[in-house]
Amino acid sequence: NGALGEVWNEEMSISMLGKRLRKVVQNYQAMNKYGVRYPGPESAGRRSKLSGAELLCQIKEMVQIATLTPDMEPFSGLPWASQLPPRQITADIGPFKTCAVVSSAGSLKNAGLGKEIDAHDAVIRFNAAPTTGFEKDVGSKTTVRLINSQVMASEDHHFLSSSLYSAGILVSWDPGPYSSDLREWFNKTDYPIFKQYQRYRRLHPQQPFYILHPRMEWQLWQRIQDNMVETIQKNPPSSGLLGTVLMMSLCEVVHVYEFLPSRRKTELCHYYQRFSDAACTLGAYHPLLYEKNLVKRMNKGSDRDIYTHGRVTLPGFMTFNC
Ligand code: C5P
Repeated sequence: NGALGEVWNEEMSISMLGKRLRKVVQNYQAMNKYGVRYPGPESAGRRSKLSGAELLCQIKEMVQIATLTPDMEPFSGLPWASQLPPRQITADIGPFKTCAVVSSAGSLKNAGLGKEIDAHDAVIRFNAAPTTGFEKDVGSKTTVRLINSQVMASEDHHFLSSSLYSAGILVSWDPGPYSSDLREWFNKTDYPIFKQYQRYRRLHPQQPFYILHPRMEWQLWQRIQDNMVETIQKNPPSSGLLGTVLMMSLCEVVHVYEFLPSRRKTELCHYYQRFSDAACTLGAYHPLLYEKNLVKRMNKGSDRDIYTHGRVTLPGFMTFNC
């Protein structure tokens, strides 16, 4: 199809990056801040590449979606444990029929996807991504907002007071140690997630607010590394992929927007900021390049959907058996 331009190539490799970005990624591949101990692919020896369906099954079976509850140690012994939701997020919300995952990519600018996004039963957005003023492109419905601990802690995001965070259900995460030991994590978070959580809960006690179990980050990381030929960054996956997998556990069908860039692809980092950096789309700290290879392989939709709408279609875990 001559009219169809190039879409994401699922064999994207670090060798296709510019020199500067390649250096940054190589640095993270060599660094090991979280104590990753990767024993190599699950099954010994050289396996053949998994199909999209096999990959979906691996993720369904090997990545547990879990949130912190007040009975978990070491939180159970702390006075603020009662601020944590008593049940798992997957027990409290959904199931939904259709869900939209709205990446924050610059290519959403002038996408005109607002109506389509809002037509979903649930919509997940990330970090500081606004809807006000951008409704035509990204819609206005927010069911879940997934935020990282950096956004919760940094002065310029005004996390405690900004109305940006008051819509929908909040879910937060912070890179934990590879061991996923909660006590170890509690004593060494990247940013003060627990302090900010307690403060926010006191100010907004009615808003549901979950914290992801760090085990999920690393189970997902292993699925990425296991299915890549290259050594990936030893850092957790991006909020975008974490949110996509969260929605796959809550929804029958998940549409992900502008995670795989459309014909609007741009170096603009976010649709809501005038700042450009190819690292936003290709990854530096996060193994984002490899996350995108995986999502491309699992996509049930067409390349045309990616090209025109930046849209990927993923089946919810409840819709297939392995
Ligand atoms: O930058 P931020 O993490 O807030 O963006 C939310 C998510 O959207 C990212 O974690 C990433 O998965 C995705 N994203 C992207 N390309 C961009 C910007 C964001 O794929 N240019």
